[in-house]
Amino acid sequence: MQTNDIKGATALVTGASRGFGRGIAAALSGAGATVIGVARDGAALGELRAELGESFTPVSADAADPTVAGQLIDAYRPGILVLNAGAAPLSRPLQQHTWQTFSVNWDTDVKQAFHWLREALLAPLAPGSTVIAMSSGAALRGSPLSGGYAGSKATIRFITSYAAAESERDGLGIRFVSVLPQLTPATGLGAAAVAAYAAREGMDVAAYRERSGPALTPEQAGEAFVALASDPSHAGAYLLTAAGLSPVP
Ligand SMILES: NC(=O)c1ccc[n+]([C@@H]2O[C@H](COP(=O)([O-])OP(=O)(O)OC[C@H]3O[C@@H](n4cnc5c(N)ncnc54)[C@H](OP(=O)(O)O)[C@@H]3O)[C@@H](O)[C@H]2O)c1
Repeated sequence: MQTNDIKGATALVTGASRGFGRGIAAALSGAGATVIGVARDGAALGELRAELGESFTPVSADAADPTVAGQLIDAYRPGILVLNAGAAPLSRPLQQHTWQTFSVNWDTDVKQAFHWLREALLAPLAPGSTVIAMSSGAALRGSPLSGGYAGSKATIRFITSYAAAESERDGLGIRFVSVLPQLTPATGLGAAAVAAYAAREGMDVAAYRERSGPALTPEQAGEAFVALASDPSHAGAYLLTAAGLSPVP
């Protein structure tokens, strides 16, 4: 099997300060990559830098800002680009959303994916580069307490596949992959959603978690992203659960 060398590669991870992004940045660093971590909270990024050492470069910035995407792609030309940053949606039924709360994930998650995907194609990143965008299992099933979240994550999967088609058409050799994690209480965003869905069903959180089975952890997400980045045969979209990756047909 052909593999992409992670050791010595430059990886850029958005949303690296907490949750999945932190686990992914740590796993890529552990596999020998030089990692650029982007998030708005400089203090949390500083803690990760203290943990991972010199191979981790923190960048405090808004990943949904098109200038940030352009500047960081130009500066680092990452061989591995992970578009993970995402806003925490307000957990309420549809009628209790305003347009502003409904659309937060369009304004952050989709905007981010759009800007970075196009910058990756325009640069273009080097042949053999891998871009992995964070969608969600909600893109397949909906998420009735999260406003526009599920639709925004479905759009991220769509536009990542559009980018893959453009790469193929222009012979760029850049691989574009989407990951659809299952809901997990192991991150801040996921814990809030699990609490809301448990309350909706009149269950306590412990019982809801018990029923949901093993929870996906940031460390497992990290292992999965290293596997995706290493193996150039991975393409398309993958569900991610505590049991690992499985292709979405
Ligand atoms: N947890 C789940 O159950 C689950 C399931 C499916 C998909 N996902 C997706 O996985 C991704 C990570 O979620 P998570 O659960 O790890 O959430 P989390 O713990 O809340 O972490 C979100 C990360 O995104 C960063 N972020 C948010 N807005 C940003 C912005 N404008 N610019 C830069 N960074 C930004 C946050 O850092 P700052 O606040 O410091 O900027 C933080 O590092 C999201 O895209 C989410 O939708 C999560």
